[in-house]
Formats: sequence, C-alpha cells, structure tokens
Amino acid sequence: MAADPTPNPHATAEEVQAAYADPKLANVLYHDWEAGTYDEKWSISYDERCISYATERFKAVAGDLGPYENAMELGSGTGFFLLNLMQGGVIKKGHVTDLSPGMVEVALRNARGLGLDVDGRVADAEGIPYPDESFDLVIGHAVLHHIPDVPAAMREVRRVLKPGGRFVFAGEPTRVGDRYARKLGQATWWLTTNVTRFGPLRAWRKPQEELDESSRAAALEAVVDLHTFDPSSLEDVCRSAGLVEVRAVTEEFTAALFGWPVRTFEAAVPREKLGFGWAMFAYRTWQRLTWLDEKVMRRVLPRELFYNVLVTGRKPG
Ligand SMILES: C[S@@+](CC[C@H](N)C(=O)[O-])C[C@H]1O[C@@H](n2cnc3c(N)ncnc32)[C@H](O)[C@@H]1O
Repeated sequence: MAADPTPNPHATAEEVQAAYADPKLANVLYHDWEAGTYDEKWSISYDERCISYATERFKAVAGDLGPYENAMELGSGTGFFLLNLMQGGVIKKGHVTDLSPGMVEVALRNARGLGLDVDGRVADAEGIPYPDESFDLVIGHAVLHHIPDVPAAMREVRRVLKPGGRFVFAGEPTRVGDRYARKLGQATWWLTTNVTRFGPLRAWRKPQEELDESSRAAALEAVVDLHTFDPSSLEDVCRSAGLVEVRAVTEEFTAALFGWPVRTFEAAVPREKLGFGWAMFAYRTWQRLTWLDEKVMRRVLPRELFYNVLVTGRKPG
C-alpha cells in the first residue's frame, strides 16, 4: 500500500504509515489535509444551491423544517450541512464538531464569514464532549460511514439529545450503491488517465505528480471509509440505541450512476479544461436525474438499490 510521501504537509511519514492501521488517525490526517480545499473539491457553497440541497435532504427524511433552537453537527467537515440549514432557517444556534481540528477551524471560519452564531469543538462521535440533554437536534452528513463504532455513536447521540429531540443523518452510502459507485469511479479513472496518454488528448492529462497524489489520497480514503449501510440495518442500530420513530429513506439511483463517473472525470483532468458550461451541464443533468429517481425510480425499485441513505428519529420524551 502506498504510504509515502506524506499527503498531509503536517504529518510525518511514520504517522501516515500508522494511519493505515488506525482508522481514527487516518481520518484526522486525511481530513486535516483535505480541509483547506474541501469546499472546492466537492463544489460546496453557502448560497441558494446548497441551502436548497441541505434543506431538501432534511425535509425528505425528517418531514419538517423546524426551526430547532439548539443543534449540533457530528463530523461537520467545513460546515456544509449545519451552516446551510442555519441559512435555510432550520436551525437557530449551531455547534460544529469534528475529529479533525483542521475541519473545525475551516467550519468556524466559514460560519464567521456568513455571520452565523456558531461555536465548535474537536470531538469524537463515540464520546461527544457535551453534557446530557444539551440539544434539540443532532445532525450529520457523510459521517457515520467513517466512525468505527456506529452503535456507540448513536448511544451518544441519544445521551446529548433533549427528551423528544430529533436526529438526522444524511449522505451515507448504501451497501449496493457503494459497490456500483466504486466500480464506475475506478473504470472512469482508468479510462481517463490512459486515454489522455496519447496524441492531442495529452493536453487533457494532469501532471503525473497530481495523479500520483490522487492515487495516494484514494489509498488513504480506503482506510477512512469503514462502512456501508443497508437501510433496515441502519434503522436497527438506531433503535438498539434507544431511539424511537426511526425511519430511513434512500435516494439517487440514476443520479449516482451519472454523478460518480462525472466527479471522477473532473478529478482526473485539468480544472481549466472544464468551464462553466460543463459545470452547468453536469449540475442540470444531475438535477433532472434526481427528479426521475424521486418521481419514478423510487416507486419501482427496492430502496436498497439507491446510493444514499438518510435516517432520522427521536429520543423518547
Ligand atoms: C466525508 S467528511 C463529511 C464532512 C461534512 N459533513 C460534509 O458533508 O461535507 C466526514 C467528516 O467526518 C469526520 N469524522 C470522521 N470520523 C469521525 C469521528 N469518529 N467523530 C467525528 N468526526 C469524524 C471527518 O474528519 C470528516 O470531516
């Protein structure tokens, strides 16, 4: 497994080596390294586009849009979910937490830039550093699949929620969806990086050191991505933690079949080759396919086949 040179400029080669055997250390190194460029890499913004995306995900699973007085996000990253839900009026006071200090720093900077009332802490979801019954709402986006002991994290969610408080986790990969997304991503990467070795297509090839860096990132990514979820087993984990009114929904089937090759292609070619026209084509197509998934595919396909799983519920109260 590739382990040198170090991807995180602050991490030693020994730390990176150790990270391959320690998923939590890998998460800190990988996400600290990603923090500065994360929003750009994942096209995260704090405008109408991402406010709608975040609030629609929330409503799709929770069925309401609050508002919730006091909310905390686990694995907040740069603040995509919480800050956009705050801007959408779903949350009044927010707390960002993450295992990666670099991510907490960027999330707080983003919050300040938006003029939002947010504080933050470095925190492990398996041992949340807040007292019992602190929050009306606990949220997370694309975090559960990184946590070694998900049942322990859900017991912590229950502990820090006020009686009757809600939790919402979105953006988790399903077992089936992750399988086809990975295969499509690998095939697109292989095809793009090989086709661009030849003739006029060489202009579309990224410098070799950037391609090598992406491969090293992918190797570490394989260490931080710990789980995929079947919707029913995710519901069971939440119920076993003593949470009630638990409900999982899934979304994105054709949108994921389109989106994963597109995102991989974008990562494999020089950014300047893909202009605004490409970005609009990719976004509008993804939007149309999302509509198709919601209106048609959801009625005819089993929920296990979709790429994303979202789950909600409450603390008894
Ligand atoms: C894929 S990123 C998602 C970030 C953000 N929620 C988003 O959707 O853009 C996962 C985040 O979870 C954090 N994380 C991983 N393991 C964690 C743990 N045990 N406790 C808290 N956060 C964790 C990572 O540091 C990273 O910032």
